[in-house]
Amino acid sequence: MRAARRRHRPGGADTLPRVLDRIDHIGIAVTELEPALELWGGGFQLEVSHREVVEEQGVEAVLLDLGENHVELLAPLGPDTPVGKFLAKRGPGLHHVAYQVSDIDAALRELASADFELIDKAARVGIGGARVAFLEPKSTGRVLVELVEPAQSVAQAVDSTAEEVAH
Ligand code: CO
Repeated sequence: MRAARRRHRPGGADTLPRVLDRIDHIGIAVTELEPALELWGGGFQLEVSHREVVEEQGVEAVLLDLGENHVELLAPLGPDTPVGKFLAKRGPGLHHVAYQVSDIDAALRELASADFELIDKAARVGIGGARVAFLEPKSTGRVLVELVEPAQSVAQAVDSTAEEVAH
């Protein structure tokens, strides 16, 4: 029992790595984007800064600016996508919290070594050309955690075509 419980409590006061810089965005699952945009854009007066279909993740995503942070609205491209399944099971609402990291490869290594379970063992390309990875909610108190290394850092790291994807 004790061992099983420990598996879901990674890190620990002396081993927990400090890899999270700040909150990047709050991800919200919606069935349709337009009514959600009326709420967050019209109602709360947040400005849309980016809109993109991410086929690989099966979503259409919209980022709205909130200071240096964002609200991310996620609408599924179909019922058989991760967000589609989330909606079927839990309905619309808070989906994940994304934290900015300066080096996502190092962050994933450190978190894995502190026994966090990773959904993505390696970073992949997310909205706006950022490099992203998700952690398994079982190891984060049932909160889906996303790590985000913004596109700017990618440009510095690999000297790629970041101007096209920066937002
Ligand atoms: Co996100």
